[in-house]
Amino acid sequence: MSNLHRRGVLTLGAALGLVGVADVLPAWSAVGGATSSGTPANWVWDPEIDQIMANVFDNGQVAAVNTAIRPWVDNNDPLPTGLPAPLATWLQNHNKLPAWADMTKLKRAADFNRRKDTYLFMLYGLGSGIMSTVIPREAKSVYWSKGGADMKDRAAKTFTFGYDLSQLAAFEPSGQFIVTANKTRLVHATVRHILPTLPNWLAVADEPNKIPISNADILVTFHSLGTFVHSKLKEWKVPMSAADEEAFLHSWQVAISLLGVRDEYIPATWNDAHAQAAQVLTPILTHTFEGQELAEVLLGLVSEVDLGLTRGFLNEFTRYVLGDQIANWLSLPRDYISAGIIKIGWPSYIAFREGLLPLMPANFYLFDQLIRAIAMAFLNGGTSTQTTPIEIPDMNRPT
Ligand code: HEM
Repeated sequence: MSNLHRRGVLTLGAALGLVGVADVLPAWSAVGGATSSGTPANWVWDPEIDQIMANVFDNGQVAAVNTAIRPWVDNNDPLPTGLPAPLATWLQNHNKLPAWADMTKLKRAADFNRRKDTYLFMLYGLGSGIMSTVIPREAKSVYWSKGGADMKDRAAKTFTFGYDLSQLAAFEPSGQFIVTANKTRLVHATVRHILPTLPNWLAVADEPNKIPISNADILVTFHSLGTFVHSKLKEWKVPMSAADEEAFLHSWQVAISLLGVRDEYIPATWNDAHAQAAQVLTPILTHTFEGQELAEVLLGLVSEVDLGLTRGFLNEFTRYVLGDQIANWLSLPRDYISAGIIKIGWPSYIAFREGLLPLMPANFYLFDQLIRAIAMAFLNGGTSTQTTPIEIPDMNRPT
């Protein structure tokens, strides 16, 4: 179906009341030249693995599966043994890159991640991490799931995803990203089965279908991560070649494909990604009780790592990255002195790091400490440089 035709269907459907405003129909060019099925992305989950993990949960096999997948870490590790047969077969069929993945681009993306890791730490940690707390469906799902009660551990696990994605060998046999993505996919499938059994979540869930983590939800999160970072790097004038930008997008296309998003919904270009973000992410951001609680914990984690940074500085950096509206929703108190230092200091910090400024700016050290604090807070709660294993949840948030 051509884009024009699809847009026509969307408009007609909306006019007839068949397609809700929240329904996400493809109106963008899709990766690998995929064509639209006409199904809105918020009515698509991951049926095969969802059923398999529902059975694992209902048959009391979560602990055994966690034991089996613990030593499975590298992309070229043999698949775990001792899994229920349907799960073993599913992994055999899915533990690989999508057919359209381009290793040359992925290698370039890994190198790009290494070259820009300072900004990526900052943007994923204080930008995307805090933005996730004003994405209502995500905040409510995370808060009411098991990990929501221990955000230190949960943040470290989520960081594992970004960390493994950023490694030089991420997609190569010696890397870990394909395994990490598959484990995440199993976690999401389990959450889809158990979260809808929790009355506290059902009371606040606004999904018309009452099943969390649809393809549309994953796209929203992708935009709060990859697309957001891309726009900030451009805004901050961090030098990037066209090939770097394309490679960075490609690594995210592969990442969300590995998380079960259908090709038809994955935007093919940055232009399409930004258009999709304007459609699915920007209009839904808002304050929730759950998000407020999560934001407090996340910012607390970073300020706990005592590298001489004040909470005021952290709040102001968050405000600088995400803007006043989000900072006000989260009631981040003002610290005008820190705000002034950041406004002048951060652009100079970037310019100096990128070799565009001959002299080290004042406060260079302060920004370096901030980046170290973010990294330490999210790597095993600041206690280790090892990433934290991802495990299948055996329950929702304990109440
Ligand atoms: C778990 C990453 C989208 C809700 C996880 C984990 C990772 C992850 C790495 C495992 C860590 C852990 O167990 O705590 C991602 C990425 C996404 C994405 C990269 C998209 C690009 C979403 C969305 C939602 C969601 C859209 C909800 C709307 C959850 C929940 C858990 C989880 C509830 C389980 C937490 C727990 O019980 O501990 N995700 N996720 N995720 N994710 Fe996602």
